[in-house]
Formats: sequence, structure tokens, C-alpha cells
Amino acid sequence: MRAIELKHPLIEHKLSILRDKNTGTKKFRELIKELAMFLCYESLRDASLEDVTVETPMQKIETRCLNEDKYAFMPILRAGLGMVDGVLSVLPNAKIGHIGMYRDEETFEPVNYFFKAPKDLEHREVIIIDPMLATGGSAIDAISLLKEKGVKKIKFLCIIAAPEGIKKVEETFPDVQIYCAAIDDHLNESKYIVPGLGDAGDRIFGTK
Ligand code: PRP
Ligand code: URA
Repeated sequence: MRAIELKHPLIEHKLSILRDKNTGTKKFRELIKELAMFLCYESLRDASLEDVTVETPMQKIETRCLNEDKYAFMPILRAGLGMVDGVLSVLPNAKIGHIGMYRDEETFEPVNYFFKAPKDLEHREVIIIDPMLATGGSAIDAISLLKEKGVKKIKFLCIIAAPEGIKKVEETFPDVQIYCAAIDDHLNESKYIVPGLGDAGDRIFGTK
């Protein structure tokens, strides 16, 4: 599967403001939420629908609905939390789990510190959310944890992805579809995405 990049003037517009170092915390949070909403919309393009009967004010019709109980979102802490409201505005009844992970500042390897998921996770489609896919280390560890729990269908939504991270995830887990708002140029020596947007967690939570 090839990573799906949202290509749309509105996405580019919102990304430009998001990337701007002068964009403040409030606006940054709003944009992360909005972009998460668009990513979630796109990721549900292949959603299966169930037959239902609905009565309009005019007549009964046979139509189809999506079963929201089949989904769970799993934000990777901390930055993934910024995307939760956006994806929930698309699927308000989906369950939410949490994967706690941070990148070691020297090795750049992910360190896992928390995992809490809905009990019936293996029966759900799990959509991981994290604004940044850099080396791919965090994504790969998160996907591995979900696979160990028996999850069969996994998607990964991010705002910005580096080619290096996409390649690593696609090689390791060819069955996991990646959705991103932009594929950037490269990683720098500190494994930050260039041009990127800086540290997503710090910009969402105002910690720097
Ligand atoms: C960031 C980001 C991803 C990870 C990506 O989190 O939100 O989880 O780095 O990098 P990788 O692809 O090289 O693994 P960070 O570790 O900075 O933690 P935070 O969300 O708590 O700020
Ligand atoms: N994590 C971030 O928040 N930003 C990057 O550019 C890379 C990893």
C-alpha cells in the first residue's frame, strides 16, 4: 500500500498556517483538530456500510449506515491527543485507547510508557493518530503493540510524514495504510522533519 497524501488547496492552506513558527498555541490546536477531521474523513473512504430502514418525513427508504462500534482511535501520547477531537467529530461513538510513547532524545528510539485500550480491541478497526511520522520508530512500535493484541485492520493518520518514516512503516507493515496531509522532504540530523512544523507536542501543549 502506498501512503495517501491529502492533496487539496484547503489542506495546503491550513498546513501553511500550521507550519508558521509565529502561529500561536490556540490556532495551532484548532488547525491540528481540523486537519485530523479531514484525515479521518479520507481514511473512511473504504468503510463498509450496513443496511438500515429510515423514515423521512415523506416515506420509508432502505439506506445504509456506518457502524461506529467497529472503530477505535488510538492517539500516541502526547501529540496524538491534539487530533482526538477532530477524529471524534467524524465518528463520535468510536472508542478511544491510548499509547504512551516518547522518543529518546539521544537514540531517537521510542520508549513505551503506557498502553490502555478498549477490551474488544481485536474486533475493531484501529486508527492510530499522531501528527508526526518521522523515523517511523514510534509508529512501528505502536502497530506492533496492536498486532500483539490481535488487531487485524490498522490505519495510521498523521499530519506530516517524512519519506524515511513512510518507507520504514510500509516495509515493516505493508498492510497498514498511512494517511497524511503532507509528505515532507527529509529528516535532519536530530531526526526532525524538514521543513515540518517543529515539535508537535510542544506546540500543542505550549511546553516550550
Ligand atoms: C513525536 C511525534 C511522534 C514521534 C515521531 O513524539 O508525536 O510520536 O515523535 O517520531 P518517530 O517517527 O521518529 O518515532 P515525541 O516523542 O516528541 O513525544 P511527545 O508527543 O510527547 O512530544
Ligand atoms: N516529532 C516532532 O514533533 N516533530 C518532528 O519533526 C519529528 C518528531
